[in-house]
Amino acid sequence: MRVRVEVIRGDITKSRVDAIVNAANPSLLGGGGVDGAIHRAAGPQLLAACRQLGSCPRGEARVTNGFNLPAHFIIHTPGPVWQGGIADESQVLASSYRHSLLLAERMGCRTVDFSSISTGVYGFPLARAARIATETINEVIADDPGKLRRVRIVAFDGETENAYKQALSAAYFNIA
Ligand code: APR
Repeated sequence: MRVRVEVIRGDITKSRVDAIVNAANPSLLGGGGVDGAIHRAAGPQLLAACRQLGSCPRGEARVTNGFNLPAHFIIHTPGPVWQGGIADESQVLASSYRHSLLLAERMGCRTVDFSSISTGVYGFPLARAARIATETINEVIADDPGKLRRVRIVAFDGETENAYKQALSAAYFNIA
């Protein structure tokens, strides 16, 4: 059974999926951007749960309950801060997508929605991030999709949506 990989425009806090992937920071104690939106929508229990987890290294992933969100689980991954491409940022970003997807598979998830990791406050160039994200997602599901049936990137704005759609079609044609 092939895993569908899609890009949609929307607000990830509304996603009715098994897991959403949050663009967190290593403290896991919330922040602005999508992290702030997820914490606001999930409610105060999320912060309490994150406190239990302690910190998370960039490129790794941790999971909590979704609390007041429609999503069952929240996977938190601190992506790299863009430093001009001199500090292995691309490898760390790929690692964030890989670890998040492997953790979702371990949790038995069938549907996973990603936010666009590191392309906001962390300043990672959008087209490069989209290429890394789609290539990494395709690699992980080609290896062993587990119960996964659908992976989506939820873009908050049109520019992000276009970047991931372009990356996805390029990745598809490379495979095809
Ligand atoms: N739904 C989906 N995507 C969203 C939402 C939302 N509700 N709100 C913001 N986004 C998008 C942004 O527009 C951007 O495309 O999430 C993407 C990631 O941007 P950031 O949230 O700034 O995340 P990032 O660049 O990884 O920086 C992480 O910012 O919020 C803090 O605590 C976070 O310190 C961490 C840093």
